[in-house]
Amino acid sequence: MTRTLAGAGPLLFRPLELRSLRLRNRIVISPMCQYSAHEGLLADWHRVHLGRFATGGAALVFTEATAVTKQGRITHGCTGLWSDEQIAGHAAVAAFARLHGAVPGLQIGHAGRKASMQRPWFGNGPLNEADRARGDLPWPIVGPSALPVAEGWLVPEPLRLPQIQTLVEDFAAAARRALAAGYQALEIHGAHGYLIQSFLSPIANKRTDAYGGDLKGRMRLALEVTEAVRGAWPAELPLFFRVSAVDGVDGGWALDDTVALAKALQAQGVDVIDCSSGGIAGSATAAARVKRQPGFQVPFAERVRRETGMPTQAVGLITHPRQAEAILAQGQADLVAIGREALVDPNWPLHAAETLGRSVDFADWPAQYGWWLAVRRKNSELYRPREA
Ligand SMILES: Cc1cc2nc3c(=O)[nH]c(=O)nc-3n(C[C@H](O)[C@H](O)[C@H](O)COP(=O)(O)O)c2cc1C
Repeated sequence: MTRTLAGAGPLLFRPLELRSLRLRNRIVISPMCQYSAHEGLLADWHRVHLGRFATGGAALVFTEATAVTKQGRITHGCTGLWSDEQIAGHAAVAAFARLHGAVPGLQIGHAGRKASMQRPWFGNGPLNEADRARGDLPWPIVGPSALPVAEGWLVPEPLRLPQIQTLVEDFAAAARRALAAGYQALEIHGAHGYLIQSFLSPIANKRTDAYGGDLKGRMRLALEVTEAVRGAWPAELPLFFRVSAVDGVDGGWALDDTVALAKALQAQGVDVIDCSSGGIAGSATAAARVKRQPGFQVPFAERVRRETGMPTQAVGLITHPRQAEAILAQGQADLVAIGREALVDPNWPLHAAETLGRSVDFADWPAQYGWWLAVRRKNSELYRPREA
């Protein structure tokens, strides 16, 4: 049975309309790679991992960065949508989320010069002899320029113009497959040093053609991909774009650039800017000059929201329901994405409702659990309300 976690009261539980979609609250599960796919196909792990978030009450559950080409995987374990055979695995995830009142979303991307690396738990660096022995062989990679992420990493082949056109089409094809799979929200991964952001950033992009040089040139790939994806994705469904709002390294992409990019993306029909940061010169989201502290990326979402009028999504060390509520109350973002804390507690939204005083009777929980928990609460000393 589908339960809704929506209504008046805390802002965190106010629905949000995006195009024809109605999100039941403001809580998004951030895309999180699981490195558990084989040949890009989703596994039981993904269905359980993502299914728990759908039953846990989030409004929107993003499936991890999914590669639009085989070459564009971060690791051998990354999910893909470069072929029709990969649709069924995604369709199972999307159907289950919808059954439980969550909007299934997908992040699509291309790892660029950060492709062909180790699964994090094997080192999070370039593939080495131990990975080869495991059968994880490196593959040739592409990027804006022949510059590796760091010393010892693979050197990317600079993309030639016809290859760029093909890649733009690959993004659009993945968007069409995402729709066929039943996803209702789509996010372009334009962050963390992967292909699109490596074109945006002057750190990685040293091209002298139309796809490099000044801000306009470096933004060209992001905008062409967005235009193609928006054209392939239905007008009634929302499109998100995740940015690394700042590189956080000397001479890198800066917040002013992000505001300019957001305005251009808005003109192309992007609905939400999802504000992350870092990753241009190291693993995942590394950024030397961005101090990690609770809500450290919220000011990025706030500025983009204020200067563009666009809805934004805040992410990064948002762990407490009151912290999330304050972000909304202060007008810093419209959506709050939860990553690692949702791994700690997949029922984070249900518990947040309780913490914010909205639900103590388990009526919002899946019926399979809620009925029993409500009876136990009424009849037993065992029940202890969660700490506020
Ligand atoms: C296991 C794991 C995998 C991640 N994979 C992705 C990903 O696929 N795409 C992405 O944009 N960010 C990815 N991230 C970053 C998260 O989406 C999120 O932005 C980050 O963890 C900060 O939020 P948090 O402090 O709530 O975890 C990943 C993070 C984790 C922990």
